[in-house]
Amino acid sequence: MTQDELKQEVARAAIQYVVENEIIGVGTGSTANFFIDELAKMKDKIKGAVASSEATAARLRAHGIAVLDLNDVTSMPVYIDGADEVTHQGAMIKGGGAALTREKIVASVASKFVCIADGSKLVDLLGKFPLPVEVIPMAHAVVARKLAELGGEPRLRLKDGQPLLTDNGNVIIDVHGLQIADPLGMEAAINNIVGVVTVGLFAKQGADICLLGTPEGVKTLSF
Ligand code: A5P
Repeated sequence: MTQDELKQEVARAAIQYVVENEIIGVGTGSTANFFIDELAKMKDKIKGAVASSEATAARLRAHGIAVLDLNDVTSMPVYIDGADEVTHQGAMIKGGGAALTREKIVASVASKFVCIADGSKLVDLLGKFPLPVEVIPMAHAVVARKLAELGGEPRLRLKDGQPLLTDNGNVIIDVHGLQIADPLGMEAAINNIVGVVTVGLFAKQGADICLLGTPEGVKTLSF
């Protein structure tokens, strides 16, 4: 099976967690895109969706799914999104698609985080995937120095030779070479750096359920 087929399989399996007549939170990335395509098949059974990025909002709308403003939503039962790495305890690295801030905000309103990923994302130790940190543009150099003190190698994310800008108009620093033995502590430490908007460590707000696509079928981890 290809990686895309595994992603498609977990996207299909995630539909069982969508609560009918409720609002659903929807993540960003290739796995989330497969999920949106599945969600479209039951669009008349949900109240609408809250999107974690402009790209996700556009894909939802293209399928005729109503996209709601988070400011008009007080609760939602479930948020469904991919991950770049996930541990056996449900801590994740996210933000490979630069949507980490909106992902964390939407997830914070949901009662349950359902992570959908291909099996290669399951790790014992977070950090092989460079940790994304969204930063206020004027602060990227000072924040990079502070991140280096934590032991990693910070690199400003570029697109076409220019700093990539997020949906929020900020930049991303990817921290390479970390070995994150204490995800909660690392998340708090990075959150404390002035100029940081969001760190792509989801430890305090980890997954409740993780659906992993494997050649042997979808495996469900509950945390
Ligand atoms: C987007 O910013 C990310 O958090 C994604 O959820 C993550 O990068 C996983 O992406 P894929 O589903 O494309 O692997």
